[in-house]
Amino acid sequence: MLRDAFFCDDNSRALSANRKHHLNKTVSSPATRLTRLPEYLFAALEQEIARKTAAGRDVINLGIGDPDLPPPDSFTKSLQLHAADPDAHFYSSSRGDAGVRKVIAKYFKGRFSVELDPDTQICVVLGGKEGLSSLGRAFVNPGDVVACPSPAYPVYAQGVTTLCDAEVCTLPLHKENGFLPDLNLAVGARMLFVNYPNNPTGAIATEFFWNQLADFADTHPETIVCHDHAYSEMTFDDYVAPSFLQYTQNAVEMHSLSKVFNATGFRIGYCVGRADYISALVKAKSQIDSGAPVMIQREMADGLAGYKGQEPPKDVIAIRKIYGERRVYTEHALKDLGLDVVESPATFYVWARVGDDEMSFVQKCLDHDVVVTPGRGFGAEGRGYIRLALTQSLDRIKLAMSRIA
Ligand SMILES: Cc1ncc(COP(=O)(O)O)c(C=O)c1O
Repeated sequence: MLRDAFFCDDNSRALSANRKHHLNKTVSSPATRLTRLPEYLFAALEQEIARKTAAGRDVINLGIGDPDLPPPDSFTKSLQLHAADPDAHFYSSSRGDAGVRKVIAKYFKGRFSVELDPDTQICVVLGGKEGLSSLGRAFVNPGDVVACPSPAYPVYAQGVTTLCDAEVCTLPLHKENGFLPDLNLAVGARMLFVNYPNNPTGAIATEFFWNQLADFADTHPETIVCHDHAYSEMTFDDYVAPSFLQYTQNAVEMHSLSKVFNATGFRIGYCVGRADYISALVKAKSQIDSGAPVMIQREMADGLAGYKGQEPPKDVIAIRKIYGERRVYTEHALKDLGLDVVESPATFYVWARVGDDEMSFVQKCLDHDVVVTPGRGFGAEGRGYIRLALTQSLDRIKLAMSRIA
């Protein structure tokens, strides 16, 4: 019945009882799930940086993965152009602008050789972070188990799992296994997250692992596999990162323009994959946001349209070259200091083992005005490691290395 679709009497009675209960309380407190969230990884570091900067110290911040370089000119010009589009001021749809989705499908075919239906298999998101946490709203029930790697981008365990009142099942990533998880540990999980090229370790996945993961997704329909591809384009030398959808269509994959277009503040990305998964994501998002600003979606489309097959636009090639040089320099410099460094052809993160207690190493760096992130901030299995984000000029990175030395 149409009436039922719009209004549910039982629900509204329960709601008003609930409201009375809350009015009786004198102190309002946040939801209990918030109390289960640890402090956000970078909050304490940011406080320390602010304190030092206020005291006039020259702090070199290799903590947060926020590109120091500006977006390419063509990218910002495209935004200015689309700001003047006569329809740019309207609400977008939660699935995203139809024209933009067509461009994404064309890019995906050229870049990854994967066909996507723009009407059913693509949803624009307000950056990968929003997309990932909205996937949680779409799929995770209270009490469910979500398989999250450790160390990992904290949003899988917190924004997705804890904020949906679910439980984390940890998939440890160890150097001996190439920082790839044991999928047997994920059996029975409601969702499973993986991310290659990987933050924080810089690891890339092997062909064997992708096939194993595809087999898992195909044979465990109870588990929704999400590959977070935030660093798909941040690769160096001859390495080209594949899409997980090349191995199976039984999955979703999150893409972001934040890193490779130096555009973290634009908040734009997209999610692709199995049509019923995408449709659940759109349903959740339609209650949370009203779509990314149309002008930014079109800017994203212009950026992706610059790809010729696997070949990125020249701006992206230039950005990669800079991060690649920083990476090679830093890997060598840290190895010269005797650290055990993970060498990688991808991401602007360097992951290095510094002994059992990385916190004292991080504190010593801070004492010398260099900020690095302690591995435990990415999960317990990150203990003993530090992450350096190469988001400073090569000269500043060189200065940081001499301070660390
Ligand atoms: C692994 C990973 N996924 C997703 C994101 C989210 O990126 P954004 O929300 O800027 O698209 C990040 C950002 O650091 C990340 O490292």
